[in-house]
Amino acid sequence: MRNLRLTTVVGARPQFVKAATVSRALAARGEDAGIVEQLVHTGQHYDRNMSDVFFEELGIPAPAAHLECGSAPHGVQTAMMMEKLDPLLDLQQPDAVLVYGDTNSTLAAALVAAKKHIPVVHVEAGLRSFDMRMPEEINRRLTDHVATLLMCPSQTAAANLAAEGIAAGVEITGDVMYDAVVWQRGRVEDADAVLDRHGVSGKPFALATVHRAENTDDEARLASIMAALAEIAAGGLDVILPLHPRTARAMGDGPAPSGVRFVKPLGHGELLTLAAAATVGLTDSGGLQKELYWLGTPCVTLRDTTEWPETVEAGWNRLVGADSSAIVAAVSGMTGLDLARPPLYGEGDAAEKVIDAVLQWWRQGGSHE
Ligand code: UD1
Repeated sequence: MRNLRLTTVVGARPQFVKAATVSRALAARGEDAGIVEQLVHTGQHYDRNMSDVFFEELGIPAPAAHLECGSAPHGVQTAMMMEKLDPLLDLQQPDAVLVYGDTNSTLAAALVAAKKHIPVVHVEAGLRSFDMRMPEEINRRLTDHVATLLMCPSQTAAANLAAEGIAAGVEITGDVMYDAVVWQRGRVEDADAVLDRHGVSGKPFALATVHRAENTDDEARLASIMAALAEIAAGGLDVILPLHPRTARAMGDGPAPSGVRFVKPLGHGELLTLAAAATVGLTDSGGLQKELYWLGTPCVTLRDTTEWPETVEAGWNRLVGADSSAIVAAVSGMTGLDLARPPLYGEGDAAEKVIDAVLQWWRQGGSHE
């Protein structure tokens, strides 16, 4: 049987981390992998510290094509990507298109492929916040409904799909992001140097990230989050906040609140080192909620919903939204947790399971249904 030609489309920071796991697992299988992968970068993230650093750090092969779409309002950005992907897929003629997560790049690629009757593989399928005001919820729902193979990180995700009538092609593989954490933590690294560089060696500190539209585009919510961070810092916990360019812009590129340290966006390994050493994490990122859990650091989530309810049920994650006093209270309630941490979202071999499921489907005829 001939090799399956796979086009993987990525564009945003967390997708580089996820795609690296599958690309690495394919490379490790060598010539007999049965899959030949081409990577396409939409250009959704384009700053060096939002894109190139991840390719370098994670050893991701250079993309076969870069669409250079950049930032634009959602509809325009998605359309730009689709316009460029359409002829590219005609040229590449892949047997399947693989997409990750829930960004505009995910949806653009899924729509273009599905309309060409190219089977879509969706990794991170079935997640739901049940909040259709989030662009990510729209992206993930629509992608799931045009996908042929749906790789779920959890039983809950598969149940969400079943509730929407999607049963065929569903696999529970675990989360490739856990693979990425296991890989990063196994690398030789000097955690002390990272902590020194950030001035928190031997000190308690909080690691915060804020980038979701619901927080950055709402002045009152953003101000309330920043006020909470300042209060946490005043209470004796240094706060490090790697700043997404969108948040920097929303803050008018102004100074950080007193006691809060704004730093540039970080690479994956450096972020994980800080996440592991932090007393608590505060975030509106989906990825960081899980990473904190896997690293044994409590998480205060600056959102009203989460796609990762298992971390909340385990007691390690608390949803507080953007209310200052709720955030401050949650931080003091979450420090020094002494709770069991049951394994969640797989065993670090999700990328292998994704590859196996794709190959199995291909060997059975690669049907589109
Ligand atoms: C996107 C995803 C989000 C994901 C996040 C990861 C969508 C709808 N959202 O959000 O799900 O969690 O990526 O980081 O796809 N910008 C830069 N430089 C860059 C990239 C962005 O300055 O390299 C600025 C631009 O002002 C841009 C803004 O950030 O308008 C938002 O970028 P965009 O890619 O639209 O959304 P994210 O907030 O990054």
